[in-house]
Amino acid sequence: LMAGPLAGKRVLVTSGPTHEPIDPVRYIANRSSGAQGSAIARAIAALGAHVVFVTGPADVPPPEGVEVIRVRTAREMLQAVETALPADAAIFAAAVADWHVTGASASKIKKTKGGMPSLQFAENPDILATVSAMKAGRPGLVVGFAAETDDVIAHATAKRERKGCDWIVANDVSESTGIMGGTENDITLITKDGAEDWPRMSKTDVAARLADRIAQALA
Ligand code: C5P
Repeated sequence: LMAGPLAGKRVLVTSGPTHEPIDPVRYIANRSSGAQGSAIARAIAALGAHVVFVTGPADVPPPEGVEVIRVRTAREMLQAVETALPADAAIFAAAVADWHVTGASASKIKKTKGGMPSLQFAENPDILATVSAMKAGRPGLVVGFAAETDDVIAHATAKRERKGCDWIVANDVSESTGIMGGTENDITLITKDGAEDWPRMSKTDVAARLADRIAQALA
């Protein structure tokens, strides 16, 4: 049996991008590598929690010692999350696509001379907002992420209210920070008590520090 401050706790972590199919061989995706989500899942598992790791098709492999549920689309991710609940805490680190292609073709779309396919989109479910709004079985602690390029604190504080989650881990991803695709992160933790600026540190250290804060909150 795993000892540690999160022993006996069940924690859900979403990570990675989603892929939204156009046809059987093509999809719409985003540049999320899954690095920060994997690091967070690893750090939480290291404190003794049972981690359910719901991941889209990420570049970085899932950590050892967690229960992995692989999904492709945002709609599959929501289903996997709902199946994985209840949990003591849920951390939404995935970069979920905002839209999916409606009427994705069951067969490969053929190139026709002079003709371009036209795609139509519908909104994806907001997984973080859906779980935050749960009446029964809402995790005791729901944590979302916010990648912002300006007015980080104001935007992230508004996002916490809008999504209904308990904490927002906000980071400044403007180009000059070098955070997007880099190994370091510079985050502000937004809670109901306000904004807490963390010093710039490695993504691994962000994960360890966040895991400690989660352990304190669940204690
Ligand atoms: O609205 P925005 O995408 O900036 O919010 C980011 C946060 O919301 C992240 O925690 C992300 O995992 C979560 N999210 C989600 N489902 C969506 C969109 C975002 O869970 N469809």
